[in-house]
Amino acid sequence: MSFVVAIDGPAGSGKGTVTKLVAKKLDLVNIDTGAMYRCVALEALRKNINSTQIEKVEKMLENIEIEMKKQDEKEIIFLNGRDVTSEIRTPEVDGCVAKFAALKCVRDKMTPLQRKMGKKANIIMEGRDIGTTVFPDADVKIYLDASVEERANRRYKQDKEKGIDITYEEVLESIKQRHKLETEREIAPLRQAEDAIYIDSSNMTIDEVVEKVIKIIEKTRN
Ligand code: DC
Repeated sequence: MSFVVAIDGPAGSGKGTVTKLVAKKLDLVNIDTGAMYRCVALEALRKNINSTQIEKVEKMLENIEIEMKKQDEKEIIFLNGRDVTSEIRTPEVDGCVAKFAALKCVRDKMTPLQRKMGKKANIIMEGRDIGTTVFPDADVKIYLDASVEERANRRYKQDKEKGIDITYEEVLESIKQRHKLETEREIAPLRQAEDAIYIDSSNMTIDEVVEKVIKIIEKTRN
């Protein structure tokens, strides 16, 4: 049986960065499930399909292939064979991904794929529903949180570094809207699993969070 660490939490909680660093230190395969939902949203944007056109979304899903590969220490995301690693992180995708991620047909396709990926190796998988739905029996479950202002602040800085033209207020609004959609949706909403360990990273550095997560994992693993 493989060893599974589930990390859930809202956008900007630091999940992505923390997961990458923990994976490297503990030699776990890192799986970013958000990237998969982002691929779905990107493909829909390209095909001019919106999230209310369910039949079109279902058809589109039949022809979607997502792969994650590690190249030179970097996770590269391929959508139908094309590298979309940066394209899935634009404000356009940010703005519509939660709507696609709320659809039953989308989750019905992604959840089994994620389970399959998780059975192949010792993994650390990050998302919104990993500890509650994808791997309810995960060996370690962590819920990483931070205040909404701090989360917006982090996303704003990341966007600026990428040269994206956006204001702090716009990022804050987008984060709030996404949070509402993610926590209030019917299927697999974002919530802390009962047996997950809660970490509030608002006033912690990345290194402090990484250290804490590693300690939690090692306690279970040894
Ligand atoms: O973590 P992220 O911001 O890259 O996630 C992108 C979107 O996908 C976000 O709206 C939440 C959604 N998501 C989800 O519904 N379930 C997951 N397991 C991971 C992400």
